[in-house]
Amino acid sequence: MPKVLVSDKLAKEGIEILKQAAEVDINVGLTEDELCEIIGDYDALVVRSGTQVTAKVLQAAKKLQIVGRAGVGVDNVDVPVATERGVIVVNSPGGNTIAAAEHTVAMLLALSRNIPQAYVSMRAKEWNRSKFTGNEVYKKTLGVLGLGKIGQEVAKRCRSFGMKVIAYDPFITEDAAGPGIELVDFEDCIKRSDYLTLHLPKNKDTLGLIGAKEFEMMKDHVRIINVARGGIIDNDALIAAVKSGKCAGAAIDVFETEPPDFSNELFDLANVITTPHLGASTEEAQTNVAIDVAEQIVDVFAGRSARSAVNMPALSPEVLAAVQPYLPLAQRMAALAVGVMEGRCHKVEVKFLGELAKTESGPVTRAVLAGVLGPMVAESVNLVNAPVVAKSRGIEVVESRNPDFDDYVSLLTVTVTTDKGSTQVSGTLFEGREMRIVQLAGFPMDFVPEGVVLISDHSDEPGVIGSVGTLLGNEGINIGGMYVGRKAARDKAIMILSVDNDVPDAVMSKLAELPAINTVKQVHL
Ligand code: NAD
Ligand code: MLT
Repeated sequence: MPKVLVSDKLAKEGIEILKQAAEVDINVGLTEDELCEIIGDYDALVVRSGTQVTAKVLQAAKKLQIVGRAGVGVDNVDVPVATERGVIVVNSPGGNTIAAAEHTVAMLLALSRNIPQAYVSMRAKEWNRSKFTGNEVYKKTLGVLGLGKIGQEVAKRCRSFGMKVIAYDPFITEDAAGPGIELVDFEDCIKRSDYLTLHLPKNKDTLGLIGAKEFEMMKDHVRIINVARGGIIDNDALIAAVKSGKCAGAAIDVFETEPPDFSNELFDLANVITTPHLGASTEEAQTNVAIDVAEQIVDVFAGRSARSAVNMPALSPEVLAAVQPYLPLAQRMAALAVGVMEGRCHKVEVKFLGELAKTESGPVTRAVLAGVLGPMVAESVNLVNAPVVAKSRGIEVVESRNPDFDDYVSLLTVTVTTDKGSTQVSGTLFEGREMRIVQLAGFPMDFVPEGVVLISDHSDEPGVIGSVGTLLGNEGINIGGMYVGRKAARDKAIMILSVDNDVPDAVMSKLAELPAINTVKQVHL
């Protein structure tokens, strides 16, 4: 059974799903070194935002197939290193959207009406109504930076308060923004807003996005809410803006390091209200994200694709269902091409014909690359890291498609080019599921690519097939199936033999020495 390490708190519903397919260990609060010491035993790791899945952790994770991030932001996972190492990273893109949006709105109202400050004052047995007079949000302008899932839900709720909503998001269209939201540029957004709310991922473009210069451009008495990530607002600039009165108040849920350094001046400012990264902390959201990542881990263990992988192309369930059966075919076709080819590979071409040309092809090309590269490189190559490994080896990858093709409903053709020439394989799925190779190295054929196969290239003359059969029989190797392809009688021919066991090197040498056999290769599919 595969082993899963859960290193941050995860809802029990997720643990139960994982336990159906794996042995699950829960070990929360590990340091990086402690995690490095034990991670080598695990096939999957589940984290929230507490665990830092660093390059060092990933290097130590010898068996790791998948990291499940029970939440949205994957800034605590070194995704490029995970990708290089073929570790799939999945998250739960929508499981906590509503929780984070509701928390943002709660922070916005609490900030406007000084609710936390008034509560603290009453706990001190004070009755001070005038001190906590606030502002209405009605008719105020809300600027949303990052109009993705959470930003849109916040916008919707704030419009119902009668706020004017403007938003900056360079990756979203007017149509996707939804009604009543004015898309503006960054400067316009920060200049016009009475309230500014952040819903961006943390990355090199957004780190420090709001600094002293940006506060300077804002309206006097702007209020700012950050339920996205610490570091997107520069902490010193925020403190300065609040102290000068430029910023009337800030509501902050997220910090550059968590837990934060409480000696920081931010925590002494009366009009800064804070929560300890509670955006996603509702029972509903935690159940959603736990189930979401657990199901994906179980899918990956079962050889299925993960629906929300961040280092694989995102596919809709329909597209995934259409391409999934082609993945093993693609990988086996590539392994056959590599088995037959001579020389150093520098180009892989993948051609999609018929119905297959009409669907998303990324995962199929990745499967081809994994099949080509698997036997060539020492590291393990899979759908996640295949493009990175191909690039690092200088292998050119070319995809082409032709939907107007009548010979088969769908046909996949892989051509591997080396310094010695090109090898082409074509394959299809009969009735959408039975794998068939229909052409290999220019020879038409029809065989099922599975198990151990011997591929020989010989001259088409009487007795060759018999001599191969006799030799294998004498060595106790059973032949399960045979296909012979030739272009014309007495011309060059190709023979594919499915055998029940591995053929030892000594027997391979004897086969190669048979008269009329030019080459013979063994391929494991
Ligand atoms: P999302 O991917 O749906 O939305 C992010 C949006 O930001 C996208 O529309 C994207 O186009 C936009 N964007 C990216 N870079 C940008 C840039 N440089 N300038 C402007 N827009 C940019 O993600 P989401 O689910 O809405 O979550 C947003 C972020 O909120 C997450 O990345 C996560 O860090 C954070 N989050 C925090 C909590 C919490 O508990 N506080 C909970 C959930 C999510
Ligand atoms: C997220 O990115 O999903 C949030 O930070 C919430 C969390 O990690 O709990």
